[in-house]
Amino acid sequence: MEKLKLAVLISGRGSNLQALIDACAQSSFPAEIVLVISNKADADGLERAEKAGLQTHHVDHRAFASRADFDARMTTLMEAAGIELVCLAGFMRLLSDEFCNHWRDRMINIHPSLLPSFKGLDVQQAALDAGVRFSGCTVHYVRPEMDSGPIIIQAAVPILTDDTADTLAGRILVEEHKIYPQAVRLIAEQRVRIEEERAIISGMRTVPHSLTNPPISLD
Ligand code: GRF
Repeated sequence: MEKLKLAVLISGRGSNLQALIDACAQSSFPAEIVLVISNKADADGLERAEKAGLQTHHVDHRAFASRADFDARMTTLMEAAGIELVCLAGFMRLLSDEFCNHWRDRMINIHPSLLPSFKGLDVQQAALDAGVRFSGCTVHYVRPEMDSGPIIIQAAVPILTDDTADTLAGRILVEEHKIYPQAVRLIAEQRVRIEEERAIISGMRTVPHSLTNPPISLD
């Protein structure tokens, strides 16, 4: 089986990278990580990648005259490695329009909210402040506008009365580690197509009809 060739772009902790490393370690998983790029030399994720024996590159954005030059360097590295899908996993740089368009429909991101709600940073606190009963996480194709693009998969996480941004982030992260490998699997199995800027999934199994928070009780 030919595996889909992934690059994972990180800036920090790398727990989603780890989830992808763990998924790819299963022989039946239809993708492999070929390259890990970090713009930060001290990203913990780089250590995870090295431990897994992966090819890593530190591409320091400060060493480039422009965003476009930095992005072009990443494209050169990824094309040399035959990358088919770029996975942003806590990559904390805005990407140029050229880069997004070059990798259009071949680049995905994970974001810790139910997009299109709560784009940007500090999204758990924003969800708490808004008083929503569910938050969650989203894997989506990347478009030039930040945190936008066709949605591949989402997990909903109920917000609890005594949640803080940290407790909520922790529960969302557990789901991130499930849905990111699942999104990659769906793409590698060619079960995702984009129609009118919506991602359509084929062969979808039954999903629960609803979730309610607080639960409806018959008492
Ligand atoms: C995750 O919450 C992800 O959704 C967001 O950045 C964070 C990265 O965490 N884009 P990690 O580096 O994967 O642990």
